[in-house]
Amino acid sequence: MTTYLSSEAHQKVALALKDYLADATLVYFKTHTFHWNVEGPHFYSLHLMFEKFYETIWESLDEIAERVRALGEKTPPNLEALLKMASLKESVTNLDAPKMVTILHEDYLALAKKAHEVGAIAESFGDQVTTDIMTEKATFLEKAAWMLQASMTK
Ligand SMILES: [Fe+2]
Repeated sequence: MTTYLSSEAHQKVALALKDYLADATLVYFKTHTFHWNVEGPHFYSLHLMFEKFYETIWESLDEIAERVRALGEKTPPNLEALLKMASLKESVTNLDAPKMVTILHEDYLALAKKAHEVGAIAESFGDQVTTDIMTEKATFLEKAAWMLQASMTK
């Protein structure tokens, strides 16, 4: 726990981070399954692009979870508990490549918005460390969303 934040701040910011962690975990796994299952004439470039994205999101999960611990809270103990907190939707099967790109584009923008919201909550409590972490997440997600959008252009 920090020495400069209130106990309410620790709890509320950690809760917002856990919500974000749930959606980010879902988006991580969705991106990785798309990396495995994508097919079509753009297979290799999409396979590689999805790989870059899921690697970055995977690293972010650790950073977010460890910030929760630094704020004195525990992370959800298992996937079931974690995914109950998610608001984004799981993927369905048999998607073609353009649909995968569209879904990730929407999910990344939704997750970026969530990152901004978590950052704003943290900022309202004076937790600049969490705000900075979330700005970094949003920066990556908005760049990734642009790259997905650019790959949809005919
Ligand atoms: Fe792989």
